[in-house]
Amino acid sequence: MLRLARQLRIRGVIGMNRRNIHYIGRYNDRRLYPLVDDKLKTKLLAQEHDIATLVLLGTIRSQFEVRHVTQLVSQQDGFVIKPAKGGGGKGILVVERQEPGAYIKPSGRIIHRDGLERHVSNILSGLYSLGGSPDAAIIEELILFDERFESYTHEGVPDIRVIVFRGYPVMAMMRLSTAASDGKANLHQGAVGVGLDIATGRAVGGVQFDRPVSRHPDTDCPLADLEVPQWEELLLQTAACYELTGLGYLGTDIVLDRRHGPMLLELNARPGLTIQIANGRGLREALDLIERQPAGAPAAERVAFSRRYLAAS
Ligand SMILES: Nc1ncnc2c1ncn2[C@@H]1O[C@H](COP(=O)(O)OP(=O)(O)O)[C@@H](O)[C@H]1O
Ligand SMILES: [Mg+2]
Repeated sequence: MLRLARQLRIRGVIGMNRRNIHYIGRYNDRRLYPLVDDKLKTKLLAQEHDIATLVLLGTIRSQFEVRHVTQLVSQQDGFVIKPAKGGGGKGILVVERQEPGAYIKPSGRIIHRDGLERHVSNILSGLYSLGGSPDAAIIEELILFDERFESYTHEGVPDIRVIVFRGYPVMAMMRLSTAASDGKANLHQGAVGVGLDIATGRAVGGVQFDRPVSRHPDTDCPLADLEVPQWEELLLQTAACYELTGLGYLGTDIVLDRRHGPMLLELNARPGLTIQIANGRGLREALDLIERQPAGAPAAERVAFSRRYLAAS
């Protein structure tokens, strides 16, 4: 990460050590981790705070309940099954639509009832959860993402990652799924990260597999034209996640649904650092500036501050 930043002459990049010790260590109380390490808890918390999240269709907690999965999704065209304590896109099954007896993935690949049940069963056994401990399966509605992103994404839902420090949004990127990432927008799965100007939501650069890119590898669309709508609303939502969790250093994942606008997908207490490569800019300067701000400013003020002082140029 640091070597790559040096090669690309990106300044002010922070590495794992600094992130862990200076930011996560100081600003994230370990006792709060369960709120974000369990997606079910995050969802319930968001609902309490009137932050929009995806509708939960059901949860499955024991092997006895596994056979109920088809019933839980029977009224649904598309849906997603994911481990409550997963991360990095692992164990997330996206079903775009169903036909009698067949569940169709974004790639067009079909799975049947037994495949669906096996997937849930694997989630419960902890195959995808952090540390391999037993887990619950979450079934939620499929996001219908904003049509404006259609040409920027291959088979899957793009999401927007924003790093929020002491309640201030400091850096953002959009993650676009690719043929390599199988309907998920996680960088480690091969998604493209597009840096976004925190002032405007407009693209400033792109990265895939830790290398700079300027076009989507599958659709060939130029990334520079990308602009995220409802940017102010989205930033306000991410800023509010500070009050939601009490975590000072936070990665928020937001999706833009064509019916409901920005919605909170999940939160991360140890967000990755590649966002700096996507933005062609290190986090250091922004974090230093925010660290000097007094505590207690309301979310709207924090957003205005970030848009004004952390603009790309
Ligand atoms: N409800 C959903 N509808 C469509 N795609 C989804 C849904 N939930 C997750 N995804 C896809 O999977 C990716 C990872 O999901 P996320 O909930 O952030 O889990 P993780 O902790 O593994 O990153 C998202 O960026 C998105 O592309
Ligand atoms: Mg995520």
